[in-house]
Amino acid sequence: MDQSLLRTYQMMARVQNIISNSETIDVALRNGMRAIAEEVDAEVTILWYAEDGVLRPYFWTGPIDITSERRRVGEGIVGQVFKTQKAIRMLDYVPGSDEHIERDLKDGVEINSVITIPFSSMTEQLGVLQLINKRDGVFTEEEADVIEMFSMLVAIALTEKEALAEPKDFGEPLLCVRDITREYVNGDVVTKVLKGINLDVHKGELLVLLGESGCGKSTLMNIMAGLDAPTSGSVECMGKQIVGASQDELTEYRRVNIGFIFQSYNLMPNLNARQNLDLIGELVDDPMPAADALGLVGLADRMENYPSQMSGGQQQRVSIARAIVKRPRLIFADEPTAALDYTSSIEVLQVMETILESGTTLVMVTHNEEICRMADRVVRIRNGRVSEVTINRIRAAAKDLVW
Ligand SMILES: Nc1ncnc2c1ncn2[C@@H]1O[C@H](COP(=O)(O)OP(=O)(O)O)[C@@H](O)[C@H]1O
Ligand SMILES: [Mg+2]
Repeated sequence: MDQSLLRTYQMMARVQNIISNSETIDVALRNGMRAIAEEVDAEVTILWYAEDGVLRPYFWTGPIDITSERRRVGEGIVGQVFKTQKAIRMLDYVPGSDEHIERDLKDGVEINSVITIPFSSMTEQLGVLQLINKRDGVFTEEEADVIEMFSMLVAIALTEKEALAEPKDFGEPLLCVRDITREYVNGDVVTKVLKGINLDVHKGELLVLLGESGCGKSTLMNIMAGLDAPTSGSVECMGKQIVGASQDELTEYRRVNIGFIFQSYNLMPNLNARQNLDLIGELVDDPMPAADALGLVGLADRMENYPSQMSGGQQQRVSIARAIVKRPRLIFADEPTAALDYTSSIEVLQVMETILESGTTLVMVTHNEEICRMADRVVRIRNGRVSEVTINRIRAAAKDLVW
């Protein structure tokens, strides 16, 4: 048999297997897209989902954040493909030669090879799949065939599994991270930890940053929080550029806007719970009363306890109460449950849910995949870049997480 045909069949078999072993259609699509991205070595893959004549990104892999992007039917390549239901292959694309494509992707990627394919169920047009740039070279016709077949497999799967539900809308970006790099220099050794991160944080969302230990999650979080400076790139928070700001400005930025929760609780050992909160409350104009904050985290009866008189989970809840006393717009939590047992972890995560209800935006770093289920969006970091973004159409309740 022709080698390329054999390879095509092998890819199809693998993808078919992934789809039929996935519990829901969302998972099938994500896993299928991931497998395709890996097989054809694509820099970016995007699943666009159509609703009321507008296409929006639902899941993607690659170093970009396109959460807020939209295409109307007929608009750009994506809108055209959806309208005509005909795939467009631009396998050897010359950058700058097509204005539709150029405005399709603005940040982070220079396009040189694109495959754009419609996908539907047996009864309904659902969206568009897009693959952008092969890492070394350009996509082949065979690869484009595989992706078209993938979209057919999806159509078949859609009749068997529950239909895809509408993705949610996100608010305005509160924080915009662009092309952030961070290097550490020790003598002659330069370690490139972050290699170009693009990311938006939207008002009111729970964003989970997921990645293996050492991949740069804390580094990224510290840069977003104004605790560390990047080597290059920009971070805009609520309209203000924080990269290059003076120490005084950064201190003010953190004091007014940001709450922190760390893996180690960092409570003052010689102060009781209430006093630990009062210490922070004094820094701002309109603090939440310590009793209210401790009530929110379920520790109203522990106000006078010292850290040493509380369990790890309780201490972490005090540290969460301390973060919300300032009524910050944005809270950063770096592996808040990493030092806790399962039950305490769930209690802490339930407190996080309560905080979200008040409209606070939460960025949580973790290496625990299960915690991703309670996020609005999951941003996966790998090799110093954003490797994948998932939008959860339904946020799992913390009490339902299991590990
Ligand atoms: N001061 C430093 N000098 C050199 N390398 C560092 C320094 N701080 C962190 N790193 C390296 O940066 C990488 C990312 O660290 P970190 O952001 O803490 O990862 P994570 O939070 O994902 O576990 C690690 O490989 C770490 O060894
Ligand atoms: Mg870390």
